[in-house]
Formats: sequence, C-alpha cells, structure tokens
Amino acid sequence: MARRPVIAGNWKMHNLQQEAADLTNGIMQELKSEDKEKLPEVVIAPTFTSLYAANKALTDCGCGKVKLAAQNCYFETKGAFTGECSVEMLKDAGCEYIIIGHSERREYFGETDEMVNKKAKAILSNGLVPIICCGESLEQREAGVTDYHISSQITKAFRDLTAEQAAKSIIAYEPIWAIGTGKTCDSKEANRVIAMIRNVIKGLFDAKTSEAIRILYGGSVKPATIKEQMAQSDIDGALVGGASLTADSFAQIVKGAM
Ligand code: PGA
Repeated sequence: MARRPVIAGNWKMHNLQQEAADLTNGIMQELKSEDKEKLPEVVIAPTFTSLYAANKALTDCGCGKVKLAAQNCYFETKGAFTGECSVEMLKDAGCEYIIIGHSERREYFGETDEMVNKKAKAILSNGLVPIICCGESLEQREAGVTDYHISSQITKAFRDLTAEQAAKSIIAYEPIWAIGTGKTCDSKEANRVIAMIRNVIKGLFDAKTSEAIRILYGGSVKPATIKEQMAQSDIDGALVGGASLTADSFAQIVKGAM
C-alpha cells in the first residue's frame, strides 16, 4: 500500500499567539480549494504558548486539513518536573503529533537517544504519533560515519517498541549541516540514507513495518526543492523549518507533495 505523504512545519521558537493564529489561518486559506483526500497529511508545530491559538484557528475552520504537533514533550505523566509538558497535556491542547529528538534539542538541551526512546513510548501509549528526528553532523559525514550514526540513533529510539507502534511512527532524517543553512542535501543522497533507515527498521521489526513507516527529509526544504525530493522512492515527505513560517511557501511545499 502506498504511504501517505506528510508535510510538517516546525515553527521552532517563532510566532506569538496572534502570529500563530494568522499563520494557521493563512495556511488554511491557501489550501482552501484543495481536495482533502488528495492532500498529504499536513502538520504544523507551534511553540507551546501558541498551541492554543493555532488549535483554536484549526477548530474554528473545521476543515480538518491541518493537524497540530508539539515540538517536544516529557515522558513522565505528571509530577515535580518544573518547566515540562506531558504527552497528556499536549493531547489536551489539541496535539496529535509530537516532534522528538530534533538536533537542536539534542545539541542545546541534552536530549539523548534514551530520552527519545522514553518519549516515543509515552507518545505512542497515549495514541499520538511521534516524529522522531535523526541526522548526522558535518564532521560525522566527512568522517564517513553517517550510516553508522543514524542506524544507532534509530535502533535506540525504537528499542522495545512493538512493530505496530513502529509502523505508526514517523521518522525525519535531517542532516544537521542542512538545517537552516540553505544547503539542501542532494535528493539522491537523502533517498539513499532514508532507504538505509528503512532497512534498519526492517531488521528491527519486519518488512511490513518498514514498508509502512513514513520517513521524511528535513533540512532547507523549499518550494523549489520539494518536487525532486518527493520523486524519490523512499522520501515520504518533509519536515520544514524556515519555509514553514510563511503561509505561501508552506502551502507551495504542501502542493508540491501532491
Ligand atoms: P529548515 O529546518 O527547514 O529551516 O532547514 C528544518 C528543521 O530543523 O526541522
């Protein structure tokens, strides 16, 4: 069965509440005339304080074309964890997806593969979908350890998940050197790494799971790059940062994945 494409916008630490509402409405306006059945799964990930505003805009529209994600979560259910948000809280705020293991969280906030694994389990057991990020640094790429590093990240992130849980998850391959740099990874190379990730999933679970799981590319995705990326055999969509911050460019990426 063909995998449904996913286009997810990672807003990072941008957009106050009004800006989030305006951007959400702008995206829906751009997608208004598109047939919902033909659209990819479209996801936006505002920062915590703008989830309410974005969710309200989505609910008021009621078109169901765009879904909500959080950019992070904590794996415990509740308690003395100052500054953190549980999966249940994010579900309550309207989120259906949660991005975990983004390279910025790994670099600046000490997120480890073990934490990513615990978060993935918490997300899946609450019925939400984890968007699990992985990717190599420029140094790792130049040292020729890209595949080894990514296999290790994926193996640890998926530890003790069931095949059914794995099949529902989404992976985002984001080479760190391509994030926010304008330097997109060559599509064929991105596809090669993504096919390699699919093979790792096959080894951890089975062929059926590896054929079902959606694996996205992220790193300087733009309206001009999406068609070539989507034309690759194993790329199932994109995790978009900078180009998701304006309705026009994000909608062009969504349409480029149709
Ligand atoms: P970018 O960010 O599209 O701005 O490169 C992608 C990401 O960090 O998810």
